[in-house]
Amino acid sequence: MTQVLALNDSRQIPQLGFGLWQVPAATTAETTATALRMGYRLVDGAAIYGNEAGQGDGIRRSGLPREDIFVTTKVWNSEQGFDKTLRAADGSLKRLGLDQVDLLLIHWPCPAQDLYLDSWRALIRLQKEGKALSIGVSNFQEPHLERIIGETGVTPVLNQVEINPRLQQPGLRAFHDKHKIVTQSWTPLGQGRSFDAAPVQAAATRAGKTPAQVILRWHVQIGASVIPRSTREAGLRENLDLFDFALTDAEMAAIAALDEGARCGPDPARFNMA
Ligand SMILES: NC(=O)c1ccc[n+]([C@@H]2O[C@H](COP(=O)([O-])OP(=O)(O)OC[C@H]3O[C@@H](n4cnc5c(N)ncnc54)[C@H](OP(=O)(O)O)[C@@H]3O)[C@@H](O)[C@H]2O)c1
Repeated sequence: MTQVLALNDSRQIPQLGFGLWQVPAATTAETTATALRMGYRLVDGAAIYGNEAGQGDGIRRSGLPREDIFVTTKVWNSEQGFDKTLRAADGSLKRLGLDQVDLLLIHWPCPAQDLYLDSWRALIRLQKEGKALSIGVSNFQEPHLERIIGETGVTPVLNQVEINPRLQQPGLRAFHDKHKIVTQSWTPLGQGRSFDAAPVQAAATRAGKTPAQVILRWHVQIGASVIPRSTREAGLRENLDLFDFALTDAEMAAIAALDEGARCGPDPARFNMA
């Protein structure tokens, strides 16, 4: 069983989950059910991943009670705006076959569209209607967060952003901490770019763990929620096995020094793909 983090709306989120980006629609139900039976309790999906139906099927196939599973999905960029976001959420719930998700996120701010504030107001409505138990955002930067908080008085519970040893985003994480926003790390393994880095290799040898486990444990110890993806059962199992060891302060500091501000994914200030 994994640890939980407190959300600013009095709910909780499992610290570790698994992601469904690029998991083929045909195998998503099996991957989801396998991961849940293995011990994962958080499943991260999105409308744009094209596999919400499999996400929902996998949840039912797992045999676990619905309330034991934390389900996330996201509103895609083309569906931003107040009314479109309301409709997009209904579409996601229908595909998932669920009455409510645990967490609904705006996938990207898309600053050029300038609709994320209206979309945020729609998420506030959806939470009041019980369709999303908690609401948050993804890929938001400080100005976007300041604007939605300032205009609505409602602070997202979580911001899902790219974090890995080469892109640690310390300024954004400090902002999150100040506002009690959970940081959730996407592409946490950073396309394997740090697997061979000396501090990762040294910690892996010392702890008897793999480089991937060391990096995921680093996410856990910086206090982030983390959602690695693996389509392999062995990979899912490996990524779940993070709670019987700890990195030392020196190992954490050595990994912190790997930060070079280099992204794997797009820059949210400029990404407006609809
Ligand atoms: N909000 C956003 O904009 C956004 C963007 C990107 C991702 N995400 C979310 O974050 C999740 C994770 O990010 P991600 O899928 O980009 O990347 P990731 O989890 O960092 O890495 C996945 C890749 O690493 C491999 N892998 C997994 N476990 C491994 C291990 N123990 N050892 C070696 N290789 C391993 C996987 O291959 P195998 O399948 O072969 O194991 C896959 O190629 C996504 O699935 C999605 O839910 C969100």
